[in-house]
Amino acid sequence: MNEHELRAVADVGEGFSSTAKDYDRGVRFNIAGGQRLVMSLPDGDHRRVLDVGCGTGLASLAMMARFHPDHVTGVDTSRGMLDEFAAKLHQSDAQVEVELKQADVLHMGIAPGTYDAVVSTMAFHWFPDKAGATRAMGDALRPGGVLGVLCSGRHAEHEFREVLARVDHPGVAVWDAVFDAVQRDIPEMEEYVRGAGLEPLDIWMERRIRRVPPAEYLERMRVVTRHLFQAQFNDDEIADLHARTAAEMHAAAGADGFEYTFTKLYAIARKPA
Ligand SMILES: C[S@@+](CC[C@H](N)C(=O)[O-])C[C@H]1O[C@@H](n2cnc3c(N)ncnc32)[C@H](O)[C@@H]1O
Repeated sequence: MNEHELRAVADVGEGFSSTAKDYDRGVRFNIAGGQRLVMSLPDGDHRRVLDVGCGTGLASLAMMARFHPDHVTGVDTSRGMLDEFAAKLHQSDAQVEVELKQADVLHMGIAPGTYDAVVSTMAFHWFPDKAGATRAMGDALRPGGVLGVLCSGRHAEHEFREVLARVDHPGVAVWDAVFDAVQRDIPEMEEYVRGAGLEPLDIWMERRIRRVPPAEYLERMRVVTRHLFQAQFNDDEIADLHARTAAEMHAAAGADGFEYTFTKLYAIARKPA
């Protein structure tokens, strides 16, 4: 599956809406990753923050906790994810103006040069035009402003693909192909950043071996990849794929759970002053 095909099969926002209520519970590692990105940004007076692919607001909340901005704009294609973010804001007493916009990264409709910091956590890998998305995020920055991106890295999750090789279901091809389409490595990220006219400050990859219960792994895959299947498979077919995959994962898991490699790619860049 190449990037064009990924765009064709995936109404990403609609898919994330259908699993939005389960999102935070299913992706506990994303919460830690977003916090790590935010804590790695250089010090600065970031009064206006843009969070692209904000989802349920995990990165925005981390930015509020560290930088105490006056204003945060959250942009996401998924109405359901934005609704979850809005519900969190209702329950919080954060003294910050928040604007939530349902929009694609390439069509955010924001004035150029108006943000001190732009962050995007675990969404970049779903953007079909990554170079264009980086330019759009860079355009939003004022001179001297900073960009922070966290996304899936390459060389990961081959253990899951080995499990998939033993599953007999047409949905396997969709899952198997998406890894190559979305994952990126450090040099590719540097090219996106420089292509957007930004100065790379710090680009790094974290690689880890995780052991989790098979059900936890599959729940994460369910909440983040629902959109890949919705155009081609009905709910029963998707449930069948999950049941067959779960059986093979249990067979592959050891006493400590299902072991897999995961990489996260981080990038921090600055717009020249
Ligand atoms: C895995 S979630 C990450 C959410 C949140 N940033 C986090 O760290 O948990 C990916 C989000 O990106 C959004 N998204 C995907 N493609 C997008 C696009 N082209 N433009 C804007 N948002 C997009 C999805 O709707 C989803 O809410």
